[in-house]
Amino acid sequence: MSYGGYLYLDLNYVPKESDFLVLAWVKGDAPLEVLAEGLAAESSVGTWTKISTMSENIFRDYRARVYHLVHVKNNSGFVYLAYPYEHFDSKNLLQFLASVLGNVYGLKEIEELMILDIKFPKRFQNMFPGPKYGLDGIRKYIGTTKTRRPHVGTIVKPKVGLSPEEWSDVAYKCYVNGMDFVKDDENLVDQDFCRWRDRFDLVFDKMSKAENKTGERKLYASNITDQDIHRMYERIDYIAERGGKCVMLDVFMLGFALTYELVKYAHKKRLIVHAHRAGYAAMHRGVYGYDFKILLKIYRMLGVDQLHIGTGVGKMEGSSKYISYLHELAVNRKVRKIPYLGCLDFKYSPHIKPVMPVASGGLDAGKGDALSVIHGKDFVFQGGGGVHGHPLGVEGGAKSFRQAADAIAKCIALPKYAKKHKELKIALDYFGYVDPKIIKEEIKMMDNSEALLNNLVYRYGIEILRHLRDEGARIPRPS
Ligand code: 3PG
Repeated sequence: MSYGGYLYLDLNYVPKESDFLVLAWVKGDAPLEVLAEGLAAESSVGTWTKISTMSENIFRDYRARVYHLVHVKNNSGFVYLAYPYEHFDSKNLLQFLASVLGNVYGLKEIEELMILDIKFPKRFQNMFPGPKYGLDGIRKYIGTTKTRRPHVGTIVKPKVGLSPEEWSDVAYKCYVNGMDFVKDDENLVDQDFCRWRDRFDLVFDKMSKAENKTGERKLYASNITDQDIHRMYERIDYIAERGGKCVMLDVFMLGFALTYELVKYAHKKRLIVHAHRAGYAAMHRGVYGYDFKILLKIYRMLGVDQLHIGTGVGKMEGSSKYISYLHELAVNRKVRKIPYLGCLDFKYSPHIKPVMPVASGGLDAGKGDALSVIHGKDFVFQGGGGVHGHPLGVEGGAKSFRQAADAIAKCIALPKYAKKHKELKIALDYFGYVDPKIIKEEIKMMDNSEALLNNLVYRYGIEILRHLRDEGARIPRPS
């Protein structure tokens, strides 16, 4: 079989270290081989028909090769593609993505296309800066390098509507009651009822007051996301001039080029970059798009210092096993391939530092022990509703998170720690306690059944993969 008159199937091909590798799920209106050929052709040198301008050299040196296929049905399955390094503009991520995440989504005969993973070769990674501060730099700034306790953070709620005075009062209460970090939500920037600069000034002053009072360093991640790059530069300049240390970007909304540019600029001004991923799920869920792990790799390479990666136990999708894999991808240099989660072997270039993972979305203090199974101690334990919805109000909520983080650092189970910590006890009674044993068991079960789960996914396809990735192995949870 061939697509446009050329053969892209090369099942004996052994990928080179310098190749880009792509793993995709595809289903369509043709045999899998034809669909795979279409993907390879359209994303590299080919088109729908034979062309007089093609040469042997071009085809040999620049084409994508389908080096492995796993059939699920005649017209669906997993496709492994290898692209030669020379195919790409090696200083330009967007050119690479326009090939691999580009035209292929529009091919008529394709009904489902989920790009599950990409392996970027080391040579390509070398053009990216990686985080300037990342996990270790932020720990150093906050002063938790030795204790390794999780950082605690909050998103002031309601997301929008509070005035600068109200907003900064809430932030102050959080800072003085143990929080390291306060951030704007993804949809709060410079609305009329809460102008960006008014909010920044008040929060910054109150944060400094809280630092003096507690003797601890604090961070405020101010959301500067805007359609106008000049306004964003101005805000970064302003934060830096005032002595601020952190800035927040809605990275998915900004896109890769603006994220790259703004991270560089913020780092030049010595600001830590907090990345919110709002919008990622439009690509990641369903059967058309690309998996969040690809974004995570890119954002880490681009150099964000903190990144939302999901929780495994909160309100956003993501099974405990999948989120623990994302955690590894955020902090480790190397991760191994797990076909049932759609992962390839991957290794970051040595200069790309770990990014601080942010666990956020539907969290309260009672989920702390379960979270630590997934994230260890290196993460930002971040809550909105779980802080501001605590029965004792914002102060009680902030204290309950800090107490939970202290307990995790000391390896004391939350119910035990709660005996001497009132706010934590109230949080456990009100929100409930998620038993870490359930999470441990679920991850262990998935690890022990890896061969079986791989077989299931290779046999039944994306539906099973999505289930394992998004929901897990469905261990019934006690009510
Ligand atoms: C986030 O930015 O992750 C959300 O605003 C979290 O809010 P929540 O803790 O109330 O779910």
